[in-house]
Amino acid sequence: MSLRLLHPPSLGAPRLVEGPAPGGAGASGGAGASGGAGASGGAGASGPRSSDSQDDLADLYAHALPSPGRAARVRANLVTTLDGAAAGADGSSRSISGATDLRVLVLLRSLADVVLVGAGTARSEGYGPLRVRASLAARRAALGQAPAPALAVVTRSGRLPGNLLAAASGDRRGAAPRVLAVTCAAAGDPALDRLRSGLGDDAVVVAGDEHVDLVEAVDELAHRGLHRVLCEGGPALLRDVVAAGLLDELCLTTSPLLVAGDGPRALVGEALVERLELASLLLADDGGGTLLGRWTVRR
Ligand SMILES: NC(=O)c1ccc[n+]([C@@H]2O[C@H](COP(=O)([O-])OP(=O)(O)OC[C@H]3O[C@@H](n4cnc5c(N)ncnc54)[C@H](OP(=O)(O)O)[C@@H]3O)[C@@H](O)[C@H]2O)c1
Repeated sequence: MSLRLLHPPSLGAPRLVEGPAPGGAGASGGAGASGGAGASGGAGASGPRSSDSQDDLADLYAHALPSPGRAARVRANLVTTLDGAAAGADGSSRSISGATDLRVLVLLRSLADVVLVGAGTARSEGYGPLRVRASLAARRAALGQAPAPALAVVTRSGRLPGNLLAAASGDRRGAAPRVLAVTCAAAGDPALDRLRSGLGDDAVVVAGDEHVDLVEAVDELAHRGLHRVLCEGGPALLRDVVAAGLLDELCLTTSPLLVAGDGPRALVGEALVERLELASLLLADDGGGTLLGRWTVRR
């Protein structure tokens, strides 16, 4: 399956784009600078080009380090249908996703230091400790990243799925924790004790009293060397991440489906307004025309 770059139109070669220099370009610079180096196609021509190699895609989606003055670069990744649903009739995103979306999801995870996810999504989608395919591991090693991203689950209640706690404790090897809980004092001592005994003391981030303070939580993650944050939702968490001013970019897959029903939109909760601009747009040659947009927050 190939991916055709529809935007930006000025990038001429299959090896298309490099992310902003670490600590460099601002929020809108994500896909602005043409990588150029190593181009294997003809240079200079404008218009859509085809990109189906993993390296081209990884270059296009390079996860930059934070801009000066920010602790982390926070990218979100979600899939919705044409009618705006973030979950299908099965109550999960599985039924509205597809091979193209999955391919980008796997790639984006492989570029992140930590995947941040709401407990609701961790429960409904059965999250476990994350792994990275061997074919994507070399890029991480070259950037000095851990072999796989950590998973940080945001929960006010302190209620993590039992299977996630079990998998995480079976997975501890004395190295940096691979599963973290991001919670607040309101979770209460019994829940915090349960989390600490399951995940390890250093894997429980308590940020805020009554509510999780996401800015403090992301600072805490950054102090642990986790600067490239991939937020996979769900809709409640993503709304709060945006409201806290933490979102830098949104990778949004649009699946060519209509589903109606009462599934959530990509963001739910109190109204807000955030302005973004298109950084890149890929069209999948997958029979239906899945669209992969990357949008940066305007600051
Ligand atoms: N289309 C997609 O790409 C996509 C991605 C993710 C999820 N989804 C779908 O979205 C649905 C889940 O929606 P959801 O709104 O329940 O997801 P969610 O945001 O993952 O979960 C909400 C729960 O996460 C915790 N949480 C979220 N934000 C928090 C905050 N700021 N502070 C403290 N805790 C916070 C709370 O857990 P506690 O109850 O433990 O306190 C809250 O009850 C599912 O159908 C899922 O399949 C779709």
